[in-house]
Amino acid sequence: MIVVETYSTESLPVPTAVSARQLMDLAFSHEDEDERFSDHDWNHALGGTHLVIREGDDVVGHAAVVRRTIHVGGTHFETGYIEAVGVRPDRQGLGLGEALIGAAAEVIRESYELGALGTGRRAFYTRLGWQVWLGPTHVVRDGVWERSPEDDGYVLVLRFGPSADIAITHPIACEERPGDDW
Ligand SMILES: CC(C)(COP(=O)(O)OP(=O)(O)OC[C@H]1O[C@@H](n2cnc3c(N)ncnc32)[C@H](O)[C@@H]1OP(=O)(O)O)[C@@H](O)C(=O)NCCC(=O)NCCS
Repeated sequence: MIVVETYSTESLPVPTAVSARQLMDLAFSHEDEDERFSDHDWNHALGGTHLVIREGDDVVGHAAVVRRTIHVGGTHFETGYIEAVGVRPDRQGLGLGEALIGAAAEVIRESYELGALGTGRRAFYTRLGWQVWLGPTHVVRDGVWERSPEDDGYVLVLRFGPSADIAITHPIACEERPGDDW
């Protein structure tokens, strides 16, 4: 049985946070240098909810949900944005990732209006009910929408309740932040 523990960033024990941060380096170690997990990426995962799978003292799976405002056309959604998803390489393919994203989706449905994330691993998420955003992506800088064509096809959403009917072909925007905006 896979047990997913839930913590706020404030309640995350320091050794667990350290182990989760190390896990991210391991999980992304096979990727291109540009795709390695950065300190910006870890900062993006702080301030919300952490989903953790551990073996003894070691974190072998982690995902985070943080609050972001996502704009769609002329409206905006309080969004649960998924960050820092990783499973230790020797534990991949066993369902841990699915358990983490399932737990993250529960957090999102309880506390937010929309789910979103940025990924190159589309198939992993679409299998779990997420949808690729088909409209043009943007970043809001100083209140102005700027196109970010490099993010087209990279943004996935989980629509439900208040966001169930939004068209995934509309323009979409996130607020700018240090590191990758999406
Ligand atoms: C993406 C990632 C989090 C998935 O975690 P995972 O624990 O391997 O995910 P799951 O085991 O739930 O599912 C992965 C695959 O294993 C398969 N699988 C699931 N349970 C399985 C089982 N019991 N036996 C064999 N295969 C299984 C799934 O069908 C899935 O197949 P897919 O490759 O077609 O998607 C993990 O591969 C990872 O950390 N990758 C590197 C970092 C990364 O890319 N993070 C996400 C960026 S947003």
